[in-house]
Amino acid sequence: MCGIIGYCGVGPAFPYLFEGLKKLEYRGYDSAGVEVGGRVIKRAGSVDGLKNAETAGLAGRCGIGHTRWATHGAPSAVNAHPESSGPVHLVHNGMLENYAVLRAELPGRYPFVSDTDTESAAHCIRAGIDGGESLLAATWRAADRLKGSFAFLVTSDLEPETICGIRRNSPLVVGTGERGVFLASDIAAIAEHCEEIFSLDNEESVLVRPDGPRFFGPDRREIRKASIRFDKNYEKVGFEGYSCFMEKEIHEVGEGFLQTCLGLKNQMKGMPAELFRPKRLLFCGCGTAYHACRLGKKLMERLVRIPCEAVLASEADEEDLPVDGETLCVFVSQSGETADTISALRVCKKLGGRTLAVTNVVQSSLEDLADFTLKTHAGREFAVASTKAYVAQSGFFYLLAEKLAGGLPVSMDLEALKAGMEACVDLSEIRALAGEMKGESYAFFLGRGLDHLTAMEASLKCKEITYIHSEAYAAGELKHGTLALIEPGSRVILFVTQRKWQEKMMNTLSEVRARGARTVLLSPFSDLEDCGADRFIRLPAFPDLYMPLISIVPCQSLAFRLSRERGIDCDKPRNLAKSVTVE
Ligand code: AGP
Ligand code: GLU
Repeated sequence: MCGIIGYCGVGPAFPYLFEGLKKLEYRGYDSAGVEVGGRVIKRAGSVDGLKNAETAGLAGRCGIGHTRWATHGAPSAVNAHPESSGPVHLVHNGMLENYAVLRAELPGRYPFVSDTDTESAAHCIRAGIDGGESLLAATWRAADRLKGSFAFLVTSDLEPETICGIRRNSPLVVGTGERGVFLASDIAAIAEHCEEIFSLDNEESVLVRPDGPRFFGPDRREIRKASIRFDKNYEKVGFEGYSCFMEKEIHEVGEGFLQTCLGLKNQMKGMPAELFRPKRLLFCGCGTAYHACRLGKKLMERLVRIPCEAVLASEADEEDLPVDGETLCVFVSQSGETADTISALRVCKKLGGRTLAVTNVVQSSLEDLADFTLKTHAGREFAVASTKAYVAQSGFFYLLAEKLAGGLPVSMDLEALKAGMEACVDLSEIRALAGEMKGESYAFFLGRGLDHLTAMEASLKCKEITYIHSEAYAAGELKHGTLALIEPGSRVILFVTQRKWQEKMMNTLSEVRARGARTVLLSPFSDLEDCGADRFIRLPAFPDLYMPLISIVPCQSLAFRLSRERGIDCDKPRNLAKSVTVE
């Protein structure tokens, strides 16, 4: 988690650092700080707090910056990065596992002032410098002592206009352009200014001076690195006429789905045929990506009939996983940087599974580790709440089912589905519902079969950006306990898109109505319009099999509208960040 940025070049550093941090804010936004020419300025709160009279006076041409998602220590100014120790300043993305041991071991002449794990790394580097080492050598030595994950950018007052970078399990890219050298957690933060971009592999390091970067391998020998391909247009960070990333991204759901399916069909053709003849399947991801995996499992059960498990990446346990050499293990991740998913991939590899990463970004750690990669083409997703990436990931699973089963029972009309999604992006009934729900404190999302999976994802969207507590339930399960929570006024949202479950869903509707619930029914079936729900939201009609692709869109829009009604910045929900790079 968090974003780090560095600049060393011919212009003043602060404007580049600030602009880069704004673009990295989706990765964390609880505090921010910069160091330029030996001066450290840090603040609790968002990056905007760094634009002030103090930073206006920063004239140096080299500096580092950070926007934090706290793992150790409260989000406060003192715990913000850069962390300093004597002449050393350091920004860190990741989490150090042996920080407590280091705190105990480090001599008393390096007093700790913050509660972060990061500070012990700053002191370790300083110890090396105090012992006569260069910044680079001291950083290497410190890295050898550290356990956990990190991408560090380090500067020293004793070596002006120099930045040292090193990474282990957290991303770091280096770019060069006319104005100098740029370093960041993410290409998007620097792409605009760069002609070439280099992506550091694990344990590699870089020494940056105004005249360019020098790269070093895990054995600390200097290496030549090839630049990676990137597209400045793709990496553009902006709302493009919308009020925020999330609103923009919901509007791109249809196009992202279409481009993903077209792209994947081609990519799949180029893959070894035997990859698609597994004995077992395992799908793995976190949060929304896990929900896509659950949908995938359902599709496999129904259409392919190869044993399939969907596993939460954070629960992937070597002792339990049903993985062997004939298992195709699919890891789904928008960012490709989710630490839990990366770690689950490592476990599956160890067990001999064949690993396939399904990612949305151009380049990522997950992709580097996997045997094979397929790309969703949803376009860059910056909003913390995943929307278009979920629909694209779902599209992948439909295509995988098609590939494994040798066809689908009803063909998938991509253009029509795209139009159907677009028709649900801004429904007036959803706006009205958001207005009605804004003061409520909990909601239930209910469905059966495929609709239960949509309910799970809809409920997560609701929680993460509206802070309304919600539960997703397999509708039939409600009466086995949870019905006790339903009382007059309870908000219950029901999905009825599967004809075969319609009657049973009507039973559930009656049961919750009888207890005074306020009900909303989402369905493409016009004959249900008068079924007694307080609100009926009519969805475009598609074969039942494809309805999960449609019915999630109004729920994404509901979450977005509700967050706005409740005065929440949906792009920056509390306690969260886009890409979770710690376990
Ligand atoms: C989605 O709305 C969430 N913010 C979150 O659950 C996310 O899907 C999860 O952290 C996985 O991210 P990834 O797809 O980048 O791996
Ligand atoms: N672990 C560090 C901290 O809590 C860095 C967290 C981050 O990646 O933002 O400060």
